[in-house]
Amino acid sequence: NEGSLWGGRFAGGPAAAMAALSKSTHFDWALAPFDIQASKAHARVLNRAGLLTDDDLAAMLEGLDRLAADVADGTFVPAESDEDVHGALERGLIERVGPELGGRLRAGRSRNDQVATLFRMWLRSAMQRVALGVLDVVDALTAQAAAHPDAIMPGKTHLQAAQPVMLGHHLLAHAQPLLRDIDRLADADRRTAVSPYGSGALAGSSLGLDPAAIAADLGFDAPAENSIDATSSRDFAAEAAFVFAMIAVDLSRLSEEVIIWSTPEFGYVTLADAWSTGSSIMPQKKNPDVAELMRGKAGRLIGDLTGLLATLKAQPLAYNRDLQEDKEPVFDAVAQLELLLPAVTGLVATLEFHTDRMEELAPAGFTLATDIAEWMVRQGVPFRVAHEVAGACVREAESRGVGLDELDDETLAGINPALTPAVREVLTVRGSVESRNAHGGTAPEQVRRQIEVVSACSADL
Ligand code: ARG
Repeated sequence: NEGSLWGGRFAGGPAAAMAALSKSTHFDWALAPFDIQASKAHARVLNRAGLLTDDDLAAMLEGLDRLAADVADGTFVPAESDEDVHGALERGLIERVGPELGGRLRAGRSRNDQVATLFRMWLRSAMQRVALGVLDVVDALTAQAAAHPDAIMPGKTHLQAAQPVMLGHHLLAHAQPLLRDIDRLADADRRTAVSPYGSGALAGSSLGLDPAAIAADLGFDAPAENSIDATSSRDFAAEAAFVFAMIAVDLSRLSEEVIIWSTPEFGYVTLADAWSTGSSIMPQKKNPDVAELMRGKAGRLIGDLTGLLATLKAQPLAYNRDLQEDKEPVFDAVAQLELLLPAVTGLVATLEFHTDRMEELAPAGFTLATDIAEWMVRQGVPFRVAHEVAGACVREAESRGVGLDELDDETLAGINPALTPAVREVLTVRGSVESRNAHGGTAPEQVRRQIEVVSACSADL
């Protein structure tokens, strides 16, 4: 069992099917740079504990640096006989500094505390990359909002005509959850920034190694409080998987709208050629594939989260090999987001909005009915009555096949004497949106304020 990390008590090597099942180098190789960085930190604590001479430390660090360079340029890769990234890198170190020195590094650590630590390191850098990618989408949404300061669109609930809103207000309604997702990533990082190194297999270190020193060396905030917990818990990974899934779900909501908006029936937007695809048979087609892949992959990221939770469920303390299944779903979620985020950013940044059509459709479906009711309330009419009266206006307009603004003064007064011609000030979509000027409302002034808040928030990140 040449090269294995655990041959001593075995008379022979694993069966081929056992080795094939056990193997994880095809995915955990992503941890290699972190493994080497952590090995250098480990060598330094071994030295401080008197377990490695200064000369040995220097030779070890030099060997690890050479190994890191060979990993980076692809000269060193896992061999068929390597079970996981940790075994492969120990083989690589021994090939470079010899078995005497190379064999000293493993003292006081286990793959259990190693892998938990490296996964956290990998995830911390991945969460940062994802946050920046999400921020690009936020910036694209904000730029579109700022570029269309006067655009009014139909606002919908139940996908039915509801009330007119500003296009910028609607776009920023997609930016807000994404900003919360970025905040969630930063918050998750606080719990991820705790180092399991020094926990050993589960019980901690007997060799006088300092977990706090290695934690600080690796950029963690603190060493773990409990070595059993540190080697067996993966709630940090599940939490990240949730935020990744949430990002995908939030972007799928935006995507669904882009898909609907780009239909000729809606005609709100035209997609840029660079961010859409054609059909192999129908020459006229321009398909919103970015948005559809985003919508589809959201399902995949939800699967990554639920698969990971199912893996974690009911595992007894401490480390179990089940935990080797923790990495692929999280790696997959990040890989998908790294494909999706630049594409969604490109899609949003290049959307061409047909603002004339959006404004024309904004009053359709009697969306100013609420404005009539609220205008009457301002004249002292009880809302119950006002709602009835506005409803009667809708019924009248519908039966005549006209818009609310096309009802003449006489008809309005006939429905209710309180409906004087002055009501016409709210019977325009612009009057309607301008009247909703309380904090967070759709009035242009509020949208301008919101753009400032979101831009400042994004500049801070
Ligand atoms: N490759 C394993 C993982 O990803 C770490 C190795 C721990 N193996 C063990 N037999 N204790 O979780």
